[in-house]
Amino acid sequence: MEKFNIAIDGPAGAGKSTIARLVAKELDFIYVDTGAMYRAVTWKVLQEGLQPDQTEEMVALASRMEIRLMPGENGQLVYVDGEDVTGLIRTPDVTGNVSRVSSIAEIRAILTAKQQELAKSKGVVMDGRDIGSHVLPDAEVKIFLTASVRIRAERRYKEMKEAQPDVDITLEKLERDIAERDRMDQQREASPLVRAADAVLMDTTDMPIPEVVESILELCKTQVHGG
Ligand code: DC
Repeated sequence: MEKFNIAIDGPAGAGKSTIARLVAKELDFIYVDTGAMYRAVTWKVLQEGLQPDQTEEMVALASRMEIRLMPGENGQLVYVDGEDVTGLIRTPDVTGNVSRVSSIAEIRAILTAKQQELAKSKGVVMDGRDIGSHVLPDAEVKIFLTASVRIRAERRYKEMKEAQPDVDITLEKLERDIAERDRMDQQREASPLVRAADAVLMDTTDMPIPEVVESILELCKTQVHGG
């Protein structure tokens, strides 16, 4: 199959990364998780002890750090300046600060340029919040995935309990956190989370993952190859 790009956007917990990874595997494309890049910058900002008002320092940090994404056995591996930070970027501390860091326009510009570079040779499935609307406006296939806040919280809860059975978190707290993160992602000035006019909307609330993957593969056939 000839190469093309697929942009998958949507709010946290809609199933983007699982679905994007499976679609990439089916097509033998490269999966790029852009949320992991914002998380990597946030991890480094916290690591360096930068305070919320040190925007200039954060931008300088983002422009000099090297972020590498590599395919791994259980998903994408993330390296910052040669260090494996795959697990470190998923802590509650990073999750709690990532919206703030990703609302800085200069940091978005730096990461957008990196993402565009990764997609240059095509054959990329990229997931995020602003891929179809801003990073890859010419992507051949654009999907906007959503699901109810409740089901997104339930999915996150299950994931967290599986990874760490004694984790101290309630479903209600997760639901509140997700709603708050949605609000911040949608209301920020720089490239907010919006559905691109030409993105196909898929609600995954009652849709099993294999069905979503199948629909996306079908869409690729019709949109790229004209059926
Ligand atoms: O998909 P995720 O939860 O790992 O994303 C982490 C954060 O990064 C999320 O709060 C929104 C932000 N993000 C963004 O602003 N733009 C993207 N393209 C991807 C993620």
